[in-house]
Amino acid sequence: MPGLCVIGAQWGDEGKGKIIHYLAEKADLVCRYQGGDNAGHTVIWGNEKFILHLIPAGILYPNCTCIIGNGVVINPRSLVSEINGLKQRGVDCSGRLWLSDAANVIFPYHHMLDEAKEAMKKGKIGTTKRGIGPAYSDRTDRIGIRMCDLIDPGVLAEKLRFTIKIKGDILEKVYGLKRPRFSNIYKEWLKYGEELKPYITNTSILVNEALDKGKKVLFEGAQGTLLDVDFGTYPYVTSSNPIAGGASVGLGIGPKRIDSVLGIIKAYTTRVGDGPFPTELPGRLGNLIRDRGTEYGATTRRPRRCGWFDAVILKHAVRVNGIDSFAVMKLDVLDTLRNIRLCTGYRWRRHTITEYPSQTRILFECKPIYEEWPGWLTSTKGVRQFEELPGNAQAYLRRIEELAGVPIALVSVGAERDHTIQRKGAKLL
Ligand code: IMP
Repeated sequence: MPGLCVIGAQWGDEGKGKIIHYLAEKADLVCRYQGGDNAGHTVIWGNEKFILHLIPAGILYPNCTCIIGNGVVINPRSLVSEINGLKQRGVDCSGRLWLSDAANVIFPYHHMLDEAKEAMKKGKIGTTKRGIGPAYSDRTDRIGIRMCDLIDPGVLAEKLRFTIKIKGDILEKVYGLKRPRFSNIYKEWLKYGEELKPYITNTSILVNEALDKGKKVLFEGAQGTLLDVDFGTYPYVTSSNPIAGGASVGLGIGPKRIDSVLGIIKAYTTRVGDGPFPTELPGRLGNLIRDRGTEYGATTRRPRRCGWFDAVILKHAVRVNGIDSFAVMKLDVLDTLRNIRLCTGYRWRRHTITEYPSQTRILFECKPIYEEWPGWLTSTKGVRQFEELPGNAQAYLRRIEELAGVPIALVSVGAERDHTIQRKGAKLL
């Protein structure tokens, strides 16, 4: 299977970083296709912990090439610091990291606009304040500045002057804030352009050539399906398409290049930021899951909201992504629970809902319908074979498979790489 797409099937933070790292050992190429430095992918390898925001976790393997595709919005300040941080830890990105010349660039005014909008109570989304939404808006508005512009001083000056005038007017007149200064931003961003120049190329050609040669390619999604700008809990979403289809647009590959889709899910559910979350557990149980699962944002350190597993959103994710198999993460977090609940539908007014509703207003009012499953009350951390998991854990996982109509290929029972169960016969890379 040369082209495997790894996506988040919930609200992000499912553990994609760990699985990408697990699979990247056998991959030739790992390609990130959307989002920006709002993402935070955590990898624990031996005694080391890496938190990556833009660069795919494949970079930790010397033989793996990494791509940041045109669908990603790049904050060059973050990227340069990530490249330098990796270098200090002995990971050299030169010649193995390629950035799309068509990717849009994030500027300080995107951050200012993101923050200013979030500060207004109405319409608050709980963003990461990394300027992601404003940068994608500029792309769609056709006033974005791309990586190929960043390395062309004349074009950068012309485009930046124009955009700063528009953004300055909005910041000053709508939000009553100071106008950004052209000269400071131009100087700093031009410097980043010079530093990043050796990495910038037409990545669509690279990815397609690798696929033509039968190389093993991972397509890496950031965030998750329920944060997708089209298929998530709109407007409480990010501004890109984390679903598998985003890989085609965000990398410049034909849709038939995606041979298989691996959906990453946690054995429960979490979300950061505002928006509906029908199975949320706001009380003691939610706190217990947060503590056991260390559920704090890798990018913002915000505590994640925690709740039971939701099979309604799961079915939605299976459909919009075409998921072929799952990796279930953090099963061990549930080890100490006497009873575990699983949401199979919602009660809304006098209706029973089993398909995810597009109207976010409805989702706010939904009450989950639960099945209750007995816990296993024993540690799963040391288990390496599915059949060796406690019977109740196997039954819970089999029920998830049944509800989704999709098999589980991997189960994660701890943060480290080897705390992973690969199901016999699972077809991955
Ligand atoms: P933005 O992507 O910063 O615009 O934030 C929009 C929404 O997506 C907010 O609810 C964020 O908390 C959420 N979000 C963005 N990136 C991530 C992520 O990597 N994991 C989980 N939630 C995220």
